[in-house]
Amino acid sequence: MNILVIGSGGREHALAWQCAKDDKVQNVYVAPGNAGTAFEHKCQNVMLKSTISDTDHSPVIEFCQDNAIDMVIVGPEAPLVTGIIDACRDAGIPAWGPTAYCAQLEGSKTFAKEFMAANNIPTAAYQGFTDADLARAYIDEQGAPIVIKADGLAAGKGVIVAETIEQAYSAIDDMLADNKFGDAGSRVVIEQFLQGEEASFICMVDGDNILPMATSQDHKRAFEGDTGPNTGGMGAYSPAPVVTPDVHDKVMAQVIRPVVDAMRAAGHPYTGFLYAGLMIDDAGNPFVIEFNCRFGDPETQPILMRLKSSMVDLVSQGLAGQLPAQAEWDTRCALGIVVASKGYPESSSSGDAITGLPALTTDHTKSVKVFLAGAAIDPNDAQSVLTAGGRVLCVTALADTILSAQQKALAVTAAISFDGAHYRRDIGHHAIIREHNQ
Ligand code: AMP
Ligand code: GLY
Repeated sequence: MNILVIGSGGREHALAWQCAKDDKVQNVYVAPGNAGTAFEHKCQNVMLKSTISDTDHSPVIEFCQDNAIDMVIVGPEAPLVTGIIDACRDAGIPAWGPTAYCAQLEGSKTFAKEFMAANNIPTAAYQGFTDADLARAYIDEQGAPIVIKADGLAAGKGVIVAETIEQAYSAIDDMLADNKFGDAGSRVVIEQFLQGEEASFICMVDGDNILPMATSQDHKRAFEGDTGPNTGGMGAYSPAPVVTPDVHDKVMAQVIRPVVDAMRAAGHPYTGFLYAGLMIDDAGNPFVIEFNCRFGDPETQPILMRLKSSMVDLVSQGLAGQLPAQAEWDTRCALGIVVASKGYPESSSSGDAITGLPALTTDHTKSVKVFLAGAAIDPNDAQSVLTAGGRVLCVTALADTILSAQQKALAVTAAISFDGAHYRRDIGHHAIIREHNQ
């Protein structure tokens, strides 16, 4: 089989690495890929005439037709929102992901909120605004803390959790008055601040059947102690003990099943990965913070370290409408630490040499794996890797406990260096406290 993975992050490195593991697979093409996928056995990066943010997907279709691609797996949200799955289906190419209609769950916060209200899916109370004065008046009425979100896609950064009224006003000024987030922020959703512990609940969906992935939690804030600005995610681990069997049942019954049933009833069956970002309150009740129409990054890295089933088989079954109810998982824990470049998340730095990386060869038996993301091969030295983005890599380790996985990942992370590298030493802290209290 030949597989095409679309995307360039750590998530796509992990997806490509998993696909390459399957003996049925001859080639895994990654468009555009990164330094990690370039070094991976059976994998090769390809540059297509379209980029991930383009709305014309014909270069992808042509590549699939010219290279006998049997399966396309789409990593990031942008091409899903602009209809890459619809385009592939129209051309008869098997492609894993949701249609543009379904991807609105991530592409528009307003669509997601209205969808949840219509289907009684628990979420924070909210109102949408395009007018700054009306938005400020609503903030006055509600008080702080309060959450301000840009309506469109903003790479995980269009969310301000305002502790004070002044911070909320300033978010409104940035988004509505000063247009700092461009079109994505020309409409805002203002929502109630939810308290509790977050978890990422990611499933594969084939239109009707649901296959939950192992549970996970990521750390969105830039700095230790979950402080600082929101990022795309600074680390993640699996399983997430906050998702007890009881919470798991509630999420399936109150969140995932209603989404799948409502989409099918609307004539738009949901296919692909479905990610519910949840806040679990003290009583174990889940509330949806956001939906994503894709696998999480960095959640993919620890989750796929634990996957023992073949990713290719699961996607094939998903494309055939025959997803099994369960996949096979390594019983150990996995934890990934993201190393970011100077300035992230406000900016990022490129071209800095990365040293101390373990050998970038494929070995599926190792319990530590470095998934590369914003990292490129040095054009002057094919054996060297340079930074090329905000989140540069994710060191992911398997071990018997979250604490030991954290220590193992930290030991490898400490040896890796580049100018301005920064990472959190406390990934997994919620779970480690739970392990300690057991
Ligand atoms: P989002 O991009 O919607 O997932 O939001 C990014 C992060 O902001 C989430 O992971 C939460 O940490 C935080 N957040 C978003 N919405 C809320 C909310 N209603 N209450 C509390 N925290 C929130
Ligand atoms: N790690 C959060 C996300 O993928 O959106």
